Amino acid sequence: MSFKQPIPTIRRDGDRAVILDQTLLPHRTELRHLSSLDDVAHAIRSMQVRGAPLIGATAAYGVAIAMTHDAGDRALETALEVLAATRPTAVNLHWALGRMAARLLALAPVARVAAAWDEAEAIRLEDMETCAAIGRHGLTLIEALAARRPGPVRVMTHCNAGWVATCGAGTALAPVYAAHARGIAVEVLVSETRPRNQGLLTAWELREAGVAHSLIADNAAGLLLARGEVDLVITGADRVAANGDSANKIGTYLKALAAQDAGVPFYIAAPFSTLDFACPAGSAIPIEDRDADELLCVNGVDADGHLRQLRQAPADTAVRNPAFDVTPARLIRGIVTERGIAAPGALRELYPAEDVPA
Ligand code: MRU
Repeated sequence: MSFKQPIPTIRRDGDRAVILDQTLLPHRTELRHLSSLDDVAHAIRSMQVRGAPLIGATAAYGVAIAMTHDAGDRALETALEVLAATRPTAVNLHWALGRMAARLLALAPVARVAAAWDEAEAIRLEDMETCAAIGRHGLTLIEALAARRPGPVRVMTHCNAGWVATCGAGTALAPVYAAHARGIAVEVLVSETRPRNQGLLTAWELREAGVAHSLIADNAAGLLLARGEVDLVITGADRVAANGDSANKIGTYLKALAAQDAGVPFYIAAPFSTLDFACPAGSAIPIEDRDADELLCVNGVDADGHLRQLRQAPADTAVRNPAFDVTPARLIRGIVTERGIAAPGALRELYPAEDVPA
């Protein structure tokens, strides 16, 4: 049951990395070459690449690209610092940079270039395996629901935690793809995810894969949950604290609250690189604030297929635009990882401190 990305989200091309530019999706599939540290930092900041696991992998390639130009100590420090400052919430970024630092700092500059590319490739390949394992574990949840009543299993998700957000099948969508591959009928309710509309990426992915789905307005989630039209809610995460509190795209918390009220199980799907055992609780997770124009403008294509941005409110409108929220562990039934499914307070049982130190 192996999943092949229809278009690789990131790959090496000589001394450069090639990414799928997500700012143009779902309207256009364009690849972009990243040739410098600045290119990579811009790609992460502007969300040409996005999604916690992919942000981590891209940062690793960024270090490799930087080392190709200058493998000295100063250049390595600069690359690590610049990339660490791109986006604050997804801990995968820091995990990947920590891994690159651990491998490269021990080496003489002459050995760093090959080692950096090797480590970045390893992170990418491991993420593929990790997504596949999350898919296998999450599949058990969908299978159990399918056995309970006829008709498709109705899965609600938020944001995009599919293949475009990772190097593999995705996190929250990996179980959906695994179920689809097994012939289990699944219908995904995809919330739009204002303001950046990552739900449109999810709908695009699912359509391409032939998985039944409906796009819904973010505000429709409560009604559909309350009406009993959802069997399972599953989202990704950008950082899971030691106590199981989980940061994910803004709006996730409201879905978890509504799911709790409706008695619908709410799960997070996340790899080990998203677990932050050094962070005791969700209140310590840094939440990214993004640009006001994400709310004040809308993007789309005109009748001629040209990408357009329209201003929907005056540029000086006061705005607050937090990009993530924290769902407390008490609202989360379980966390689906590559090692199995854990209750949020019991993550250490799957990841003992000797495997994953804080
Ligand atoms: O701001 P984004 O689009 O990078 O946020 C992405 C999310 O919140 C995803 O749900 C999360 O990173 C999991 S991706 C497998």
